[in-house]
Amino acid sequence: MSKSKSILITGGAGFIGSHLVKKLIKDYPNYRILNLDSLTYASNLKNLENCKSSINYKFIKGDIRELEFLQELFQSNNFDIVIHLAAESHVDNSIDNPFQFISTNIKGTHNLLETARQSWGKNKKEKLFYHISTDEVFGSLAIGGKFSEKSNYDPRSPYSASKAASDHLVRAYYHTYSLPVVISNCSNNYGPAQHFEKLIPLMIKNIINKKTLPVYGDGKNIRDWLYVEDHVEAIDLILHKGKIGETYLIGGENEKKNIDLVLKLIKMTDSILGRSEGFSNKLINFIPDRPGHDYRYAIDNSKIKDELGWKPKTPFELGLDKTIRYYLGL
Ligand SMILES: NC(=O)c1ccc[n+]([C@@H]2O[C@H](COP(=O)([O-])OP(=O)(O)OC[C@H]3O[C@@H](n4cnc5c(N)ncnc54)[C@H](O)[C@@H]3O)[C@@H](O)[C@H]2O)c1
Repeated sequence: MSKSKSILITGGAGFIGSHLVKKLIKDYPNYRILNLDSLTYASNLKNLENCKSSINYKFIKGDIRELEFLQELFQSNNFDIVIHLAAESHVDNSIDNPFQFISTNIKGTHNLLETARQSWGKNKKEKLFYHISTDEVFGSLAIGGKFSEKSNYDPRSPYSASKAASDHLVRAYYHTYSLPVVISNCSNNYGPAQHFEKLIPLMIKNIINKKTLPVYGDGKNIRDWLYVEDHVEAIDLILHKGKIGETYLIGGENEKKNIDLVLKLIKMTDSILGRSEGFSNKLINFIPDRPGHDYRYAIDNSKIKDELGWKPKTPFELGLDKTIRYYLGL
């Protein structure tokens, strides 16, 4: 059995966080998991209903923007590991109201880093601050090429800029204070329990309810999609085998044009609902493009594959099928 560890997960009531909490509780019964989340609109504690009875799990409502609260929390818990997922995560919201993104993603991350540094002091052996980030920090790709760990930062939305700033702070704490950190930057996740503001759940909901399907611009922007449980497996590997101070990129090797994704969702959802093929195509509505809309993201997975033996496992059709059935309550 693995050695006992005390782990603080921030943002564990969100989409990726809830999948991570469930996996760690199940696979590491002797880890103590404390899920800290301020329960914004994006969270859903119902996704963790089954965890409530686990003796190795505790939830605490709290805000990473509150430094004193964090200091008290670290004083009363001897955390070995912080896995930091709490963030404002929706690009469109960051365009409408950037303030929350700056305060949570930058100030909140800094509060956590500083609290971990103060709390761990010189006793940093076997400690880890694991920061979860996004490939959006690298900006937009043209048709060729992929992002790698060596790519330059070039964020283009308030969301990606705030995540980029948080990545820089994490690295600064590694170089300046020797805080043991690791960072991973992942491509677009999808799967059950994602908030309806995000592309795939929104489309599924609207297809089910015969509502219009808003698609930005000409729909030709390309995203790389990864099933959330594959991301969580990568996090588990990095947590246990990643090297301190390193960055790992995680991608689905699964690039899709937005319009092709929407057409696939229509086909699969209509088919499950017993509708005729193409029934919901008429719902597609091209809307003016998002300002600063990144054209393409793609990830070179070589490092995590070669060093840690990870690869995306879930075939896209299978992942989408599970996701659609989840939203249909099947
Ligand atoms: N979803 C993706 O496709 C994706 C891809 C790569 C990286 N990421 C990163 O992974 C992390 C999790 O993403 P997600 O999609 O699960 O996000 P999410 O929006 O579903 O969940 C974020 C969680 O953070 C919590 N939170 C927000 N502000 C907080 C605060 N001030 N204090 C405490 N908790 C707070 C929310 O209540 C929510 O439960 C984020 O850091 C995001 O940048 C997401």
